[in-house]
Parts: sequence; C-alpha cells; structure tokens
Amino acid sequence: MKKVTKAVFPVAGFGSRFLPATKAQPKEMLPVVDKPLIQYAVEEAVSAGITEMIFITGRNKRAIEDHFDKAYELESELEAAGKVNLLEQIQDILPPNVNCIYIRQQVPLGLGHAVLCARPVVGDDPFAVILADDFMDVRQGQPTVMKQMVEVYEREGKSILAVLHVPRESTRQYGIVASSPYMQNLEFVNTIVEKPEPSEAPSNMAVVGRYILNASIFDHLAGLGKGSGGEIQLTDGIAALMKHEQILAYRYHGRRYDCGSKIGYLKATVAMGLKHPEVMKEFNDFISELNVGQR
Ligand code: UTP
Repeated sequence: MKKVTKAVFPVAGFGSRFLPATKAQPKEMLPVVDKPLIQYAVEEAVSAGITEMIFITGRNKRAIEDHFDKAYELESELEAAGKVNLLEQIQDILPPNVNCIYIRQQVPLGLGHAVLCARPVVGDDPFAVILADDFMDVRQGQPTVMKQMVEVYEREGKSILAVLHVPRESTRQYGIVASSPYMQNLEFVNTIVEKPEPSEAPSNMAVVGRYILNASIFDHLAGLGKGSGGEIQLTDGIAALMKHEQILAYRYHGRRYDCGSKIGYLKATVAMGLKHPEVMKEFNDFISELNVGQR
C-alpha cells in the first residue's frame, strides 16, 4: 500500500463571504488567536506524516508563500532584540523535512479544477486534500483528523471523505452523501451530490474539508464540465470515480469550525482563545464578565 505523503491545499478561492478582510489576502491567512488558518492545516498534515505540501494559489498568493518562507530580516531583528521565543516560533513553522510547492490556478474555476492543478506534482500517488477554512479541533492527546484518516487509508486503501451530520436545512451548503454502514465510523458511499436542496438531499451527511483521494480521481476531474454554481466541482469528480472504485465516508473524532463563515470563525477564535496558554486565564475572565454583564 502506498503511503500518503502529499497534501493539496486549495487556497485560490475568492473568499467572498469574508470580504473586505479577504480583499488583499486569502481567507486562509486569517488568524485564529495567533496562527493563520493555513498554518494549522499544514501542522495537521505534518502530524499525519505528510511531507509534500502543495498549495494551489490564486491572485493573492504572496502572503502564503511569504508565511512559509524564511524571513531573514525579521529573524535578525528578533535575534538582536533577544526575543528567543518568538524567533523559535517563526523558525519552526515547518519541520526541515517538509517541502512546499506552489501551483498557480490561473482562474478560480472551482475546487475540482483546483485539485486537478496538482496533478503534475501528485502523479500516481494517493494524496490528501485539506481545506484550511474548515478548522478542525481535537481533544488534547487525540490524533488530528488527518492522522485519523491516514490510518484508515493505510488499512483500507480506498479514497476517504470526512463527513459530518448537519441540520437538514443546511444541505445546500455542502456535498451530501448517501451511504451504507461498513464498520464503526466508516460507511460505503453510495451517492454524492453537491449542494442539494433540503427536499432533494439523499441524507444529511455532509462532506467537510478533509479528503484522501487515489490518483485515479484526476482522470475523472479532467473530463468534467461546470457543475453546481457554474464551477468544476470536486464532488462531481468523486461521483464519477465512485462508478469505478469504492469510496469511504469517515465520521471523524473532532470538532469542525467553518472558518469561511463569520460565525464559524468567531466560534473557533473563542474556543481556541479559551485554551491558549498565554491568554486563556484573562480571556476566560473576560467571557465570564461579558456573561454577567448581559444578565
Ligand atoms: P469555497 O467554496 O469556500 O469558496 O471554496 P471561496 O471562494 O474560497 O469562498 P466564498 O464561498 O466565496 O466565501 C472551498 C475551498 O476551495 C478553494 C478555496 O480557496 C477554499 O479553500 N478554491 C475554490 C480554490 O482553490 N479554487 C477555486 O476555484 C475555488
């Protein structure tokens, strides 16, 4: 069985739900407490043993490239000022064995198209897809969601989609699967549709931004036309792949925050603030004060 060593991070979307914050930077650079979303996503990939990070970038790519690049001037300033902790934090963003590769998606034609742009680098290997705006938090000591999925992949060898039950009225925001039970937390996918109306949705099991895909997906993505919303949809590629290979839906352990939406982003910020060692005490007090004030 091939190991999963590559992850694709599509970061070329418009992020229109988060304007004006995303006018000049990708939404994946929005910070939760003190780290941008994309750094959490890359750290999750690293925790799963992934070493090749492939970013599919768009018009505002600079900030992401700079974030993972060496910052000589900043490093010497911090060194001169004796700010050793901060220096270590910016030097250790990536372990030394990790490579970053940037591919430009010339026009944001959709998530399926963004993933297809990674084909020349991914080749025939299985690969992860991580949408950094789906922020995944796990309990202390628990494996990250991507690590959980890599473990499943290395056992099963089949493409895997992370899924979550959502309220029926929200099905039009997600790819929705119908499935049949396989084993604990794992289902066989029978149908997948992008953004169905609640009345037409085959279930309320939604796909969220973590996938492990076999490279055979590329042939199917290459043949796709525009789907829902006029975009080339990853969901449609998966639907086509499903006719040839069994695909698994995995109910992960963890909590997802939709940081592409204002409310999800705020929730993630509060949740992470309440457990960040540097600010948790004062932040907890502040939240309690607010609650008292509102009574
Ligand atoms: P979204 O559906 O969240 O779109 O894309 P978006 O443009 O980023 O955000 P909104 O809806 O306008 O607010 C899901 C993921 O796919 C990437 C996005 O960057 C995001 O991580 N994406 C989407 C691309 O890389 N290219 C595309 O053509 C479309």
